[in-house]
Amino acid sequence: MSARVIDGRAAADKLLQSLAERVQELDPHLVVVQVGDDHASASYIAQKVKSAKAIGMRSTHKHLSATTTEKELLNVIDALNADDDVTGFIVQLPLPEHLSGIARSVIERIDPRKDVDGFTAINLGKMFQGTDTELLPPATPAGIIALLEYEELDFVGLHAVVIGRSNTVGKPLATMLLNRSATVTVCHSRTLDLPSLTRQADLLVAAVGIPQFVTADMVKPGAIVVDVGIHKSEGGLCGDVDFASVSQIATAITPVPGGVGPMTVAGLLRNCVRAKEIQLSLSKQAKSR
Ligand code: GUN
Repeated sequence: MSARVIDGRAAADKLLQSLAERVQELDPHLVVVQVGDDHASASYIAQKVKSAKAIGMRSTHKHLSATTTEKELLNVIDALNADDDVTGFIVQLPLPEHLSGIARSVIERIDPRKDVDGFTAINLGKMFQGTDTELLPPATPAGIIALLEYEELDFVGLHAVVIGRSNTVGKPLATMLLNRSATVTVCHSRTLDLPSLTRQADLLVAAVGIPQFVTADMVKPGAIVVDVGIHKSEGGLCGDVDFASVSQIATAITPVPGGVGPMTVAGLLRNCVRAKEIQLSLSKQAKSR
C-alpha cells in the first residue's frame, strides 16, 4: 500500500486565501525579529514575509546583529509592544548562543496581545483551558490541527501519539488534540520501548528533531503520519520520518517539504489577523467604559 501524500501547500493556500479579505479590512502589520544569521531562520522568515505579501499583509523583517545584547533585544521588544502600528511580532528562534539562556524571559517580555507565536504563558494558558479560549495558539500545532481539519479528520476518540515534548510543538499540540477529544500519548527521545507506543497510534506526529527517526516498524498499518521535522540531508531536505518506508504502511502522510511547514506560516498569519481583532475589540470595550 502506498499512502496518500497530504498537500500542506494546498491546505495553506486555502487558509491564507480565507484570510485575505480580513487582511484588507483590518490592515494588520507583522514584525519578525531576527537576531544573528542562523541560516535556517533566514529561510523560514523569507517564507513568512512572502506569504504575508501574497495575502496583502504588511510585514517587516527586523534583522539585528549577532552581537545584540540582552538589553538591546529587550528594548526592541518594548518598542514593538508600544508601537500602535505593530499588530503582532515574533522573535525568531533559536537565538544566538549568548542569548539562548534568556529565550524564555525574552518571550515573556512580549505583550500577549501581540504574541502571534502564541508562546507566552498567557496564551499557552488560554490554550490549555479549551478550544473556545485558543485565541493565539502556537503556530505549528495550530497549523497541524488546521491541516488535519482540511483532511476532514475526526479527532474524537482517536489515539494520537506525539513524539516530542517541546514547548513550541509537542506539548501544545498534545493539549490541542486533547481539547478536541483525542486520546493522547506524549513520548520523546528518552521514552522506553517507544515503538510499542507509536504502533498504537491512529495519528502519529513526529516532532522529535532527529532525521528519519520514525521507521516503518514503528507505525501501525493505516495510521496517519504527520512529520514536523525538517533537516538537510545528502538527498535534499528530510523530516523526522523515513518517508520511503513509512509511506508503504501509513494511509496518509505529510511530506517534507510541503507538509507542515506551509501550515506553520499560515497559522502565524491567522494569529496576526486574530491579534488585530482582539486589539480592536479590547479598545472598543475600553471606550465604552
Ligand atoms: N523557529 C522555528 N520555528 C519557529 C516558530 O514557529 N517561531 C519562532 N519564533 N521561531 C521559530
